[in-house]
Amino acid sequence: MVPFVAEPTLAAVSSRVPHLTAKLQGFGTTIFAEMSALASATGSVNLGQGFPDTDGPREVLDAAIAAINGGLNQYPPGPGMLVLRQAIAAHQQRFYGLEYDPDSEILVTAGATEALAGALIALLDTGDEVVVLEPMFDSYAPCIAMAGAVAKPVTLRPPHYGFDPDELRAAIMPKTKLILFNSPHNPTGRVFTRDEVRLIADLAVEHDLLVLTDEVYEHLVFDGAEHVALASFPGLRERTLVISSGGKTFNTTGWKIGWLCGPAELITAVRTAKQFLTYVNGGPFQPAIATGLGLPDSFYRELAADLQAKRDRLLPGLVDAGFTVYPTSATYFVTVDIRPLDPSGDGMDFCRKLPHRCGVVAIPTEVLYMNKHEGRHLVRFAFCKKLDVIDDAVARLQKLAR
Ligand SMILES: Cc1ncc(COP(=O)(O)O)c(C=O)c1O
Repeated sequence: MVPFVAEPTLAAVSSRVPHLTAKLQGFGTTIFAEMSALASATGSVNLGQGFPDTDGPREVLDAAIAAINGGLNQYPPGPGMLVLRQAIAAHQQRFYGLEYDPDSEILVTAGATEALAGALIALLDTGDEVVVLEPMFDSYAPCIAMAGAVAKPVTLRPPHYGFDPDELRAAIMPKTKLILFNSPHNPTGRVFTRDEVRLIADLAVEHDLLVLTDEVYEHLVFDGAEHVALASFPGLRERTLVISSGGKTFNTTGWKIGWLCGPAELITAVRTAKQFLTYVNGGPFQPAIATGLGLPDSFYRELAADLQAKRDRLLPGLVDAGFTVYPTSATYFVTVDIRPLDPSGDGMDFCRKLPHRCGVVAIPTEVLYMNKHEGRHLVRFAFCKKLDVIDDAVARLQKLAR
């Protein structure tokens, strides 16, 4: 008998994989691999996976090249290069007024993905429960399962993708150890308001919970919305690990430079797990991301404005194609309801056929839910692409309207 098996899983229900541990049965192959393969097989415009198709700032790229040419090509220190840890500390202070000691309160990781995995493995015991918003980034549920813990999802529902405070309160049980929060939120593009973040903070204090807050889209916020740092609320800094990475902010998703900031005791715990995962990564990219974090405010403003313009190009095209389009004020993503175009409401089937019907790839949001029925009719499009690529996709999607 297996004591703790992941409950409903994020992956499409798949057949048993031989040799795979019971904890990971059902997680299958990520939909991103399937859809990206379909995009290249059909010559489709790939608005599935969220990665930009332009390079980030020249200074950041040049700093990496200089680091490689300068011989920074061996293992960096376990906690990350000091220059990067100092830059992360300065960035937290500059944008959120939060002080972290670069020596004991910051850990550099292989992307936010390893920060999440390291934290969940380090902090969770078998049977612990984690309250998490769904839909959710695809690594959350498998990492919680690998830690032997149990994810308890609270569903965000369109059109505004807020959470129901009573559902959130009800999800917190005696076995709850941790809240895993994500704002700005993938895939909904929701930026949680100060009041919503305060409620999460109050509940964490009331129930003495640890908090992981995934803020990788912290700078990709539109329409004057404000990213509220959870760790800045009273009683939160000492129980919270803030996770972010350079991939989204500097268009360097392939470099996988991420980090955690938090109190020394939590960072020490995560470092214990992290050192046996990758130990270290991305030596020459670390000083380059440090350069990026020091760029002036104008860089951050232009980054958000550029992406907002891309969003504003894609959204009307999706409306014209016939989808019900939900508002998004952050990230790379917009979600739509397919039912006006496909009354069956089967997003998985719709996305598998879309490349053949009109040459565009999107992601069925269902894969990001544990309660599959909540997201069955929803589909996610990425707009972090060049304007002419978006225009091409929009033109192709108009075939659906006809
Ligand atoms: C919400 C969220 N968290 C974490 C990550 C992973 O970030 P990284 O590429 O730095 O590992 C992503 C990437 O898409 C994401 O959307």
